[in-house]
Amino acid sequence: MTALAPRKVPTRRISFEASLQDLPKHFAADGDLITSHLTASLSSVFPDGEDFFVRSVRHFRDQITDPELKRQVAGFIGQEAMHGREHRAFNDRLDELGYPTKRYERITKWGLELRERVAPAKSNLAATAALEHFTATLAELLLTSEETRDLFGHPEVRNLFVWHALEESEHKAVAFDVYKAVGGSERMRVFTMNALRYGFVATMVVQVVFSLLADRATYRRGNLRRSWRNFRRSPIVRRELWEQLRDYNRPDFHPDDRDTTELVEQWRAELFGDQGTLNAKLVTAAA
Ligand SMILES: [Fe+2]
Ligand SMILES: [Fe+2]
Repeated sequence: MTALAPRKVPTRRISFEASLQDLPKHFAADGDLITSHLTASLSSVFPDGEDFFVRSVRHFRDQITDPELKRQVAGFIGQEAMHGREHRAFNDRLDELGYPTKRYERITKWGLELRERVAPAKSNLAATAALEHFTATLAELLLTSEETRDLFGHPEVRNLFVWHALEESEHKAVAFDVYKAVGGSERMRVFTMNALRYGFVATMVVQVVFSLLADRATYRRGNLRRSWRNFRRSPIVRRELWEQLRDYNRPDFHPDDRDTTELVEQWRAELFGDQGTLNAKLVTAAA
């Protein structure tokens, strides 16, 4: 293995909770139904998903000898722990508004704990590496496309997701590099991604459908149809995104093949530079 590129993976202690108190039920741009429910569904799987990522990487911590990778793993764990905490707070607020976020959290936790009981640790690490490619792909879309960022509507929901996207980009190769460093096979890596690519999308579809069915606004005349029309034009259902996910199957794939260094630098400055727009939300900052 060639020497690992140094990367900054800082743990930022931040809180969005206070500004989410005035969140309306359909917080997405134009009160859009499907985008609000999809955002809630995505957020529901994050906290327990990220706990799982942390456990599956931590399991191999002692086998990592490269001090640079060791340092990145510590940063990765710190960042994912904060994401879990902030998304849980967001999910609590969504639950008050009538979204089934807490039920989805419980199902995610149950499913992942079951996976850990039956699957080998290396397969769980392969799942983490694959899902980190999902988050990195979505993060890159968010950080490059204003149209996508605007879909969130409420400014604090947008802040939460943009902060999360920046950190997903900062640590996008960590789980992958750990998987390689502990001798994870190509076969398991690709097999796991193939299963997850469909599994993750199917889970989201089912969650959003049930979430919509339980919302009275879905049955209001023309509401769902209008939202569906918008959704079909949305950047998240474009073919390029699916292709970018599939790129993971390439035999010599590495997350750094897509160079997002400049993008990360730009957003670090924008959010946490001298005039950073999110500095006021930092509780304490440790690099
Ligand atoms: Fe995360
Ligand atoms: Fe992540």
